[in-house]
Amino acid sequence: MSGTQASQALDPSLADLLRRDAAVIAGVEKLRFSPLAVSGGKGSYLFEAGGRRLLDLSASWTAAGLGYGHPAVVAAVTSEMSSPGGASGLSSISATAVRFAERLADSVPTDSGDDRRVYLGNTGTDANDVALRACRRATGRARIVAFQGGYHGGLGLAMEVSHVFVAAGLPPNDDVTFLPYPDPLRPHTGDPTTVLSDVEARLGRELSIGDVACVIVEPIQSDGGLIVPPDGFLRMLTSVCRANEVPLIIDEVKVGLGRTGFLHACEYDGVAPDLITFGKSLGGGLPLSAVVGPSWILDSGTASSLLTSAGNPVCAAAGHAVLDVISSEGLATRAGALGDRMQEALVAGVERRGLDDRVGSVRGRGLTMGVDLVRDGDLSTPDPALARKVVYRAWQLGVVVFYVGGNVLEVTPPLTLSDDECRDGVEILLTAIAEADQVTDDEVAAFAGW
Ligand SMILES: Cc1ncc(COP(=O)(O)O)c(C=O)c1O
Repeated sequence: MSGTQASQALDPSLADLLRRDAAVIAGVEKLRFSPLAVSGGKGSYLFEAGGRRLLDLSASWTAAGLGYGHPAVVAAVTSEMSSPGGASGLSSISATAVRFAERLADSVPTDSGDDRRVYLGNTGTDANDVALRACRRATGRARIVAFQGGYHGGLGLAMEVSHVFVAAGLPPNDDVTFLPYPDPLRPHTGDPTTVLSDVEARLGRELSIGDVACVIVEPIQSDGGLIVPPDGFLRMLTSVCRANEVPLIIDEVKVGLGRTGFLHACEYDGVAPDLITFGKSLGGGLPLSAVVGPSWILDSGTASSLLTSAGNPVCAAAGHAVLDVISSEGLATRAGALGDRMQEALVAGVERRGLDDRVGSVRGRGLTMGVDLVRDGDLSTPDPALARKVVYRAWQLGVVVFYVGGNVLEVTPPLTLSDDECRDGVEILLTAIAEADQVTDDEVAAFAGW
């Protein structure tokens, strides 16, 4: 891309698409941060109506974990689609889907002798919703423990256990209890060394009551503000849950499948999950989600979670290709190393460009990173207004990035990001932080984000 679109008239074809989008696409499904309108994509790049090329450091909220149009995914989907094993997993068996489920289950560590089952679905939301309801059915208990700042889905029970919605006014479900998520940088106890033990004590008290069906948690809290918990968090949760015989659902929809430097994010803590949920990158750009868990839970109610297109073989074929590429290209290990380098480059760039007053912290694990925007370099004064303008300025400069938790840039590029793209992305992001003031309040007014 040459030049910027700062304060320039939009390209006419882009402006036309924006008008038509506003006239036809329902607001209930819009979470917009800029006038980004996409006509194509290849690798780490999106092509905008009007011809600009943008480097996507969000990977479409991680749904494009392998970037756009990965040849292996295209080949697998094209081949299956030309003679698909049905279009639904409800009432017929697809060899492609069964093989994929076997393979996904085999990839997940286990330390119990339980038989395991795999639910195949469409989105992270349905995977979590199904897992939560299955835990309730199998245990005969109703209460669910989740975490403040958590996000597990945009519909149904998965939405009700997502604290971000409750904090924004969704009527609370009396059967959901939220505990603090341990945040070493903004500790709820006031002391980073006690966040873990405090959560452990609170969880122990809740579970000892005996009415909890399950606990659900993100290994890194993403939409709540890219919070990286202290080492051992998942180990502690697993141990408290097992002591109380309460299943733990580890939600890897956002950060699973290689992104943290491990195939499964829970492996960082050396934990074998009771239940684990997947989505986003699992389908390589197609809608595919999954739950892997014990048969006593996932077989607990035949025909109790029915989505016609769930388990469809074309999406399963895409899932095969995704697992193939992650393994054959060593993408998990690469994500760990590239993420370290990208974080170092961001930290060094913040210092070199004198942006310390705007950036309170750069953190993350592998290619799951957060850039925390604040006032006066102070973590106690988050700066959501700056985040809105930085995201908009980044779009003007040719980079796609979104913010989470109000003020944190979420940097989750495709795992296939090249070294050169990484370098360019870091520099443009830093420029966007430096130049955010060039964006006017009017320009961002139409983009409420969240
Ligand atoms: C951790 C986590 N779980 C679940 C979901 C829901 O996934 P989807 O929007 O694909 O239904 C999300 C979406 O952002 C997520 O970040």
